[in-house]
Amino acid sequence: MSKNLFLKTVNGRKENQTPIWIMRQAGRYLPEYRTVRSTQKDFVSFCLNPKEASAVTLQPIDRFDFDAAIIFSDILMVPWALEQNVKFEPNIGPLLDPLEVPKSLDQKLIDNLPNKLAPIGEAIKLTKANLSPETALIGFAGAPWTIMTYMAEGGSSRDFAKTRGWAWQYQKEVDALLDSIIESTISFLTLQAEAGVDALMLFDSWASAVPAAQRKWLVITPTRKIVEGLREKGHKQPIIGFPKGIGEGLISYVEQSAVHAVGLDHGVDPVWVNRNLPKGFPVQGNLDPLSLLQAGPEMVRDIDHILDAFASRPHIFNLGHGITPPTPIEHVQLMLDQVRLRGN
Ligand code: CP3
Repeated sequence: MSKNLFLKTVNGRKENQTPIWIMRQAGRYLPEYRTVRSTQKDFVSFCLNPKEASAVTLQPIDRFDFDAAIIFSDILMVPWALEQNVKFEPNIGPLLDPLEVPKSLDQKLIDNLPNKLAPIGEAIKLTKANLSPETALIGFAGAPWTIMTYMAEGGSSRDFAKTRGWAWQYQKEVDALLDSIIESTISFLTLQAEAGVDALMLFDSWASAVPAAQRKWLVITPTRKIVEGLREKGHKQPIIGFPKGIGEGLISYVEQSAVHAVGLDHGVDPVWVNRNLPKGFPVQGNLDPLSLLQAGPEMVRDIDHILDAFASRPHIFNLGHGITPPTPIEHVQLMLDQVRLRGN
């Protein structure tokens, strides 16, 4: 822990250097990722191949020396383990068998999740063995609301109408489904914690679809139950929540969800965040991935704006969402140089 800049920062210390990693850093913008990807017959078996999953996790560290690695897997591995027939179709995205109505899931499937996802624990052990102690390893899962949207819609969605409709029509049944997802997520994160990750992240990528009045029910409380569930099992890793697109909802999310740090999307102004979140609360983010794609003079201005706003708060530099596949690797290097040159 002593030399690990990411861990010190996520635990609330302000260092004289801002740590940096980027969402989807092990992905298609990297030529060496595309080479490995082309040898894998499908995305799910790639995620369950410890040797290759570990190899691609380390690629962005070897190339850029980021302060954290994130294990190569996917938030949809939980619905896959719950036998929702998850597939990743090239040029379409994820597809799964949609649930007709919300309901609790078969307990036998939930109990069997650690067996089905054991290869991800193996990938974590392999990766830890090959990482310097100065580089943190992050494990992750989807937050329950975001996982529920995929299970309801059967894939990605523009407006999440079916999932949002459920929240008005079937409140008891939604609670039952959320409880099953919460239990499964605690089990998946426990597997990762026991395999040796240093920190955990919960992606609530579609939190923006939840109306403000339902945020506590659908976003904050399920997140808090996961954090508390992990603590009850004795896992002490810091947990970063990423409630993408909730704007002013960040204030109650940080107050009530029990996460240790919060990820910021690029829709929120860092100056507003710094004024409105409790002093010393660690944040992560939030350069627009499309600013990075262009890497013009505006990117340098955006990076400076973010670093200035968080000059006296623990801050991990990141994008506001995943890096886009067409991003040139030279642009990533420019961003890194700018962040590292500045210090904090
Ligand atoms: O480098 C990393 O960040 C670690 C690996 C990682 C992946 N997915 C690998 C991946 C992580 C952290 C995720 C999280 C994830 N997966 C999220 C939350 C973050 C976010 O983007 O909001 C979501 C919503 C998913 C679901 C998902 N997985 C979608 C919608 C897609 C298809 C879209 C696409 O980009 O093709 C995936 C596939 C996926 N997951 C890829 C990668 C590298 C690309 C697939 C490929 O290489 O063929």
